[in-house]
Amino acid sequence: MPEAQGPLGKAEHVAIIMDGNGRWAKARAKPRLYGHQAGAKRVREIVEACPQLGVRYLTVFAFSTENWRRTQTEVAGLMKLFKKYILSEAKKLVEAGVCVRFIGDRLRLEPRLVQLMDELEEMTSENSLVNLTIAINYGGRDEVARASRRMAKDVARGTLNPDSVNEQTLARYLDTYVLPDPDLVIRTSGEARISNFLLWQSAYSEYEFVKTLWPDFTVTDFEEIIATFGARERRFGGLLAS
Ligand code: FPP
Repeated sequence: MPEAQGPLGKAEHVAIIMDGNGRWAKARAKPRLYGHQAGAKRVREIVEACPQLGVRYLTVFAFSTENWRRTQTEVAGLMKLFKKYILSEAKKLVEAGVCVRFIGDRLRLEPRLVQLMDELEEMTSENSLVNLTIAINYGGRDEVARASRRMAKDVARGTLNPDSVNEQTLARYLDTYVLPDPDLVIRTSGEARISNFLLWQSAYSEYEFVKTLWPDFTVTDFEEIIATFGARERRFGGLLAS
């Protein structure tokens, strides 16, 4: 269980479901990929705003285990965009003190993309000002299933006692094992769903659903949400000290 906090919570870890790129492009009579490109630009601005807002961890949902169901053109375009993003942003991320990690199942991703992801993680591993986690081919249920598989293998080889397995044990096998749980999860575009994002980790997170489409989401929107969050009471199932 997380420790009880005071009434004014700090959004140390913010997770974002960046939704609405397709609708944003459609409103401009452009292909969906145009919206994803505009969305990628917003990521940079939000990452840059994190230090002054006290956000040390930012996790963004870039591609879900369900997104493979989109057209081949859109999937291929997104994969290309991820590679382009890594190549064009790497130097800036290193200089800005950002430590980048990727979560999700890499097995289905093309080798060149996985190579770039590994290299960016390595290049930024000494940084700690902001921890940016990018979820690619990520699904919360898939993550728990993969973690359970690895745990079962350790039990089978005798390095894990099944009777010792508790919440902390499972958390150590998740992709997010180095991250604190998110304090706040934001979803843009007016949809009020969590879509398989950080299912285990967001058990006690606050949610904020905003109508703005992701390519229109500004640093000011982000600041306002963080400020509102600071005024919320978080009880983690317990009571606030009076
Ligand atoms: C959801 O909008 C968005 C995605 C599936 C892709 C998210 C990707 C980016 C923001 C760009 C790349 C990010 C990085 C980190 C480089 P949607 O397509 O479902 O929009 P819609 O609901 O309006 O159709």
